[in-house]
Amino acid sequence: MACRTAILISGSGTNLQAFIDAVAAGDLDLELSIVFSNRPDAYGLERAARAGIPTACIEHGQFEDRESFDRAVAAELDAVQPELIVLAGFMRILSPWFVEHFEGRILNIHPALLPKYPGLNTHQRALDAGDEWHGSTVHFVTEELDGGPRILAGRLRVIPGESADELQTRVQAVEHQIYPEAAGLVGSGRAVFRDGQALLDGEPTTEPVVRSFA
Ligand code: GRF
Repeated sequence: MACRTAILISGSGTNLQAFIDAVAAGDLDLELSIVFSNRPDAYGLERAARAGIPTACIEHGQFEDRESFDRAVAAELDAVQPELIVLAGFMRILSPWFVEHFEGRILNIHPALLPKYPGLNTHQRALDAGDEWHGSTVHFVTEELDGGPRILAGRLRVIPGESADELQTRVQAVEHQIYPEAAGLVGSGRAVFRDGQALLDGEPTTEPVVRSFA
C-alpha cells in the first residue's frame, strides 16, 4: 500500500507539482491523499484539483492562537489518516502540539544547505557569504525551526555574479528532484525518525545524503 501523504502549501506549489508528476510517472509510490492550504488563493490548490487530489483550506486569521489553528488543520488531516505530512512552502510555524501530534512524520524542505542559513533570505545570505556551494535540504520537522534531522540535500555551485533570484530559480529545480526522492525514502520506510535522529536503512545518520547538481 502506498504511503498516505498530506501536502501542506501556502503558495505556488511547484514542489507539490513535482510530487504530482513523480507519482503520475510511477517514480514515487505515495498516495497523495489531501492538499491543504492556509490561503484560499494558493495556486497549488488548483494544481491539486487538476490532478484529482482532494483539497482543504482553513485561513489562519480567524484563530486566536497558533495551536487552535493547528488543531483545526490536524482535524482535517486526520480525516485521511496520513502517514506522512509534506510541508511544501507552507508559510506557518508549527506549534509544538502539531509537531508532537504527527511526530516523526513531518518533512520540510529548506532552501539552504542546513545547518547553514535557517530562516529567510537564504539565497542572498549564501551570496553575501561568498559560498562556493548552495542548495536545499529535506529534513524531519522537530520543534526547532529548520533544525530537525536532515535526510537529503541537493547542492549546486554558486555562479560568480549571479543574482539571488537566479540562484533561487536554480535551487528550486534542485528541490523538485530531491524532495520527491526524500519523501520516497520515508514512504518506503528506508528513512525513519527515531529518538530525535534520522535513520537510513537502519543506521543512524548525522549527515544527510548529498546530491550534486550542475
Ligand atoms: C521552496 O523553495 C521551499 O524551499 C520553501 O518554500 C518554497 C516553496 O515553493 N520552503 P513552491 O510553493 O513549492 O513553489
